[in-house]
Amino acid sequence: MSTVLWERKVKGCTLTTVQGDITLEHIDAIVNAANEHLHHGGGVAAAIVRAGGASIQLDSADWVAEHGRVATGTAAITGGGKLSAKFVIHAVGPVWGTGNEVAKLTSAITSALELAEQHNLASISFPAISTGIFGFPKELCAKTFFDTVENWLDEHPQRSLQTIRFCNFDNPTANVFEREARRRFG
Ligand code: APR
Repeated sequence: MSTVLWERKVKGCTLTTVQGDITLEHIDAIVNAANEHLHHGGGVAAAIVRAGGASIQLDSADWVAEHGRVATGTAAITGGGKLSAKFVIHAVGPVWGTGNEVAKLTSAITSALELAEQHNLASISFPAISTGIFGFPKELCAKTFFDTVENWLDEHPQRSLQTIRFCNFDNPTANVFEREARRRFG
């Protein structure tokens, strides 16, 4: 199970950094670090399909067949399959080195938050999008996450989301998020 490293109420929303496997989160939606084709071949995407079952990949293929690829900086939602999470929000972050990476990551995070709101969800859990195979630096990712979430909370005082978790699998990433949260919120 996951270990809570830091938790605070910020602008009326509970923010929590945890170390653990996001596929085990008991939450309305987990966010997947996806690619534009929703081919969940590696990293957290593969872990989500392994844990949630083939329906997640099938729903993803249906989504792309109907809507086309999920552009970088946007997100798509599917059911959660066998996961305890009701939904998976597939957010496509930038590949480091493609330019405008911070803006693209900001957009992907915001798109995921907007989708959660559209589905009236109360809780969501994010992995460190783009910091694995896509090569985005961990510290800058954590800073971008908290900048984006703080701005989004300011812009959405009336919202369904009450809990936003940052669930990181590996120790280094979990520690970077905890340090950034403490530096920013105490
Ligand atoms: N729970 C939480 N975090 C996880 C898990 C897990 N089970 N497995 C991996 N992670 C973390 C990684 O340690 C990393 O910090 O998720 C973060 C994102 O890494 P990736 O999964 O490699 O995602 P990304 O860098 O955005 O690359 C996306 O990789 O998996 C493929 O299909 C995916 O093409 C896409 C690309």
